[in-house]
Amino acid sequence: MKLCVALDLPTRKQNLKLVQSLCGLDIWLKVGLRGFVRDGNEFINDIKNIDQKFKIFLDLKLYDIPNTMASTAIELCRLPIDMFNIHASSGSEAMSEVMRQTSGMANRPKIIAVTALTSFDETGFKQIYNDSITIKANEFAILSHKAGLDGVVCSAYESIDIKRHTDQNFLTVSPGIRPFGESTHDQKRVADISKAKECLVDMAVVGRPIYESQNPKETTKKILGQI
Ligand code: C5P
Repeated sequence: MKLCVALDLPTRKQNLKLVQSLCGLDIWLKVGLRGFVRDGNEFINDIKNIDQKFKIFLDLKLYDIPNTMASTAIELCRLPIDMFNIHASSGSEAMSEVMRQTSGMANRPKIIAVTALTSFDETGFKQIYNDSITIKANEFAILSHKAGLDGVVCSAYESIDIKRHTDQNFLTVSPGIRPFGESTHDQKRVADISKAKECLVDMAVVGRPIYESQNPKETTKKILGQI
C-alpha cells in the first residue's frame, strides 16, 4: 500500500513547507482543487523542483459532458503528474471518451474515478443516488473498469468488493483514513491503516491527520511504519 499526503493547507507557502519537510520519504502528494485553483500548474512545478521523486495525484474530480471531460483530460496528461481523477457518475460515455482520447498519449498518468465520496453517509448518499453506497460504489467501479480506467477512489470498506467485481489489479485509492483515531472532521466512512491494509487498499490518502499534527514528518514516518 502507498501513502498519499493531501496538500490542503491554506497557502502555497504552507503547502511547500510541508512538501519540503517530507523530502526523502517514499510517498505520493495530492494536489487538490483549492491549491490548483489558487496556484495552478506552477505549484506542480514547485513540487517537482523540490524533489523530482515525489509522485503527484491531481485531485480535480472532473464532471462534465464527454467532449469537455476528454479535452480537459488531454491537457492534464501534458502536466508532470502521475494520476488524476474524474467522477464515475459522469457516465460510461464520458469515461470511455476520456480513455479513448488519452490512450495514445506518451506517459499518460493513471486515471481513476470517484465512486462515492467518503464524506457521504447512507442518508446523504441515498438522497442523491437513490441507492446504498455499497451497491452504487460497486456499480460505478464496474462501469469505470469497463471504460478502461486504472482504478477508483472509494472508502476502504468498498475496496475488497470492488476488486472482486473488477480485477485484483484495479486500483483502489481511499481517503477518509484516520491512522491514530484522530477527529473524523467531515469524513463519514473512516478507517485506520490496518483496516485499509486488510481491505487491500492500494493507496491511503491522508490529509488533516498529517498536516494538522505537531510534527508532520514524524506522523508520516509513523504511518509509513504501520504500512
Ligand atoms: O483531511 P483528510 O484526510 O480528510 O483529506 C482527504 C483528502 O482526500 C481531501 O483532500 C479530500 O478532498 C480528498 N478526497 C476525499 N474523498 C474523495 C476524493 C478525495 O476525501 N472521494
